[in-house]
Amino acid sequence: MTSKPEKRIGILTGGGDCPGLNAVIRAVTKTAIFDHNWKVFGIEDGFLGIIENRMRPLEPDDVSGILTRGGTILGTSNKADPIAYPTGVDEDGKPVFEDLTPTCLRHIKSRELDAIIAIGGDGTMSGAKGFVDGGVNVIGVPKTIDNDLVGTDITFGFQTAVAIATDALDRIHTTADAHHRVMIVEVMGRNAGWLALHAGIASGSDVILIPEIPYNLDVIARYIEKRKSVGRHHTIVCISEGAKEEGGEITVSKLDPTSPDPIKLGGVGNKLAHDIERLTGRETRCTILGHVQRGGSPVPADRLLGTAFGHHAVNLLAEGQQGRLVVMRDNKVTDADLIQSADKQRTVPLDDPLLQAARALDTCFGDE
Ligand code: F6P
Repeated sequence: MTSKPEKRIGILTGGGDCPGLNAVIRAVTKTAIFDHNWKVFGIEDGFLGIIENRMRPLEPDDVSGILTRGGTILGTSNKADPIAYPTGVDEDGKPVFEDLTPTCLRHIKSRELDAIIAIGGDGTMSGAKGFVDGGVNVIGVPKTIDNDLVGTDITFGFQTAVAIATDALDRIHTTADAHHRVMIVEVMGRNAGWLALHAGIASGSDVILIPEIPYNLDVIARYIEKRKSVGRHHTIVCISEGAKEEGGEITVSKLDPTSPDPIKLGGVGNKLAHDIERLTGRETRCTILGHVQRGGSPVPADRLLGTAFGHHAVNLLAEGQQGRLVVMRDNKVTDADLIQSADKQRTVPLDDPLLQAARALDTCFGDE
């Protein structure tokens, strides 16, 4: 005879999607059901599913075959912050926000959920703060291609994005070589340079520009000329969307005041291409990779990380832990305080060993 389910848990994916979300959903659902005989509810479209009370039971069959799939079977939203939810506009056309945490707490109670596993980035973790304060147990699982969440050495989704960006840079390399051009590839990452740093180094990019190191145009122009003088007629530049010139500003592609993350970055690569052509007279092209970096099947490393993170999240609940964030530290899956990690971004330290290695290989970071 099957024993009565001891717990009812909800699972949601919040913020921008990234490859590996389905690996976590699968690991959580199967561990909770096979190991503990709990009931699992999939919350649709991130926090929006709690606000609108849209949740569905998940069974092992629902998560079968999803390990290799990108996106999320539950859907996501990067606008539905329960603490500041856009409910309309005032007479000046400015968005009006409401704290819908009480509505969410009511819906969570009506479903008799004992805990929520929230898979997300810093925005999702801060949105979950109100639930923790309202007495709901939340276990966070960190995702993002930006790899910028405080408390964990790595987030899943990052390594897939690095692989996609590296492949793009490798392809750009051959056409740059053929045409003796300067070729710029702009990658995502928000205000952290992890993606540009890793893809730039993995592809052997000549110039890597990250938000943490404002660049000097003259330094870049001299570097390109120096390469030419030794017979290197092409130059590959990998630039992060959040990079900026010394004394300059970030390049904003769009402002979305209704989003918890209202500044959308993008376009700095085009600006740099224009500046390099002006300064060096060299033909320069820019490719902006955009959302292709978040799409498609996760690489094996992200499938493994997602599986290990999902399994650990359920184990934390089984141990009776509260308000924890699953993290990877020193190659070990462990956990940290969820609230302490919310609302903060982890940027690239200037003494990062990979950054130093690239400098030693004469990679230009635009600053010396
Ligand atoms: O945080 C992930 C990310 O892809 C960033 O790298 C990028 O700046 C942002 O999301 C893009 O957001 P959106 O999907 O809203 O355009």
